[in-house]
Amino acid sequence: MQATRFLTTLIAFFLVSCDRGATTGHPGNESENPGGRSFYEMVTGNSVGDGQSGWDKLFNTSRYIYGKDPIPFLSKHINKIPKGDALVLAVGEGRNGVYLARKGFRVTGIDISDVALKKAHRLAKEYNVKINLIQGNLKFYKIPENKYDLIVNVTYFRKGLIPSIKAGLKRGGAVVFENYTVDHLKYPAGLSVPKRFLVEKGELRALFSDFQILDYQETDDGKEAKAHLLAIKP
Ligand SMILES: C[S@@+](CC[C@H](N)C(=O)[O-])C[C@H]1O[C@@H](n2cnc3c(N)ncnc32)[C@H](O)[C@@H]1O
Repeated sequence: MQATRFLTTLIAFFLVSCDRGATTGHPGNESENPGGRSFYEMVTGNSVGDGQSGWDKLFNTSRYIYGKDPIPFLSKHINKIPKGDALVLAVGEGRNGVYLARKGFRVTGIDISDVALKKAHRLAKEYNVKINLIQGNLKFYKIPENKYDLIVNVTYFRKGLIPSIKAGLKRGGAVVFENYTVDHLKYPAGLSVPKRFLVEKGELRALFSDFQILDYQETDDGKEAKAHLLAIKP
């Protein structure tokens, strides 16, 4: 009985301290053991980076943290992507999803953060467009197969999701993927990002090497280092 109480207290202590860690800098921030898994992950099987509370706290301001405009890589290529059903993974405050709706796509966006989704809803209203928003954890969410003409994945990297992204696209469907690369670690903005949320140089291109790659770029503007990909499912 006493041992159970001790274990419960120990777990509660670690959950609280890890949750605090999640709010400093990048919400995915966590102290990792040399094996790459935090104590929180070992105890709960969940990653703090997937925790809703850190993201909710980050987004809990009237300001749009990531802005209201789409990423330039998406707007640059928008005219090459045939209109249809679009899925925006980790849609956040909605900058890319709302842009796609404005361009005539039927948009579904998924995110773990209720607070972000409320802001996405508000942004859609501002532009008088509708988007379908789902609160869900992409660690468990099942992307329907052969359904989408476009899947957008920006600044959210879960390597295990790549096969589902590929399966979720119709033949001829497009994927727009953008993420920070490991070079981002040298910048102040990158210091709090756990390395596993970053892509290696060339990694995105290699992950989609079975697709037709229409554009692949790695950029570094002295503040941010990113990889950008537009590819078509054969
Ligand atoms: C860096 S933000 C990027 C948001 C958006 N993609 C953008 O570029 O504006 C990462 C987003 O991933 C979401 N997120 C983190 N873990 C998640 C998970 N396991 N399932 C779904 N969304 C998640 C966060 O709530 C947040 O909105």
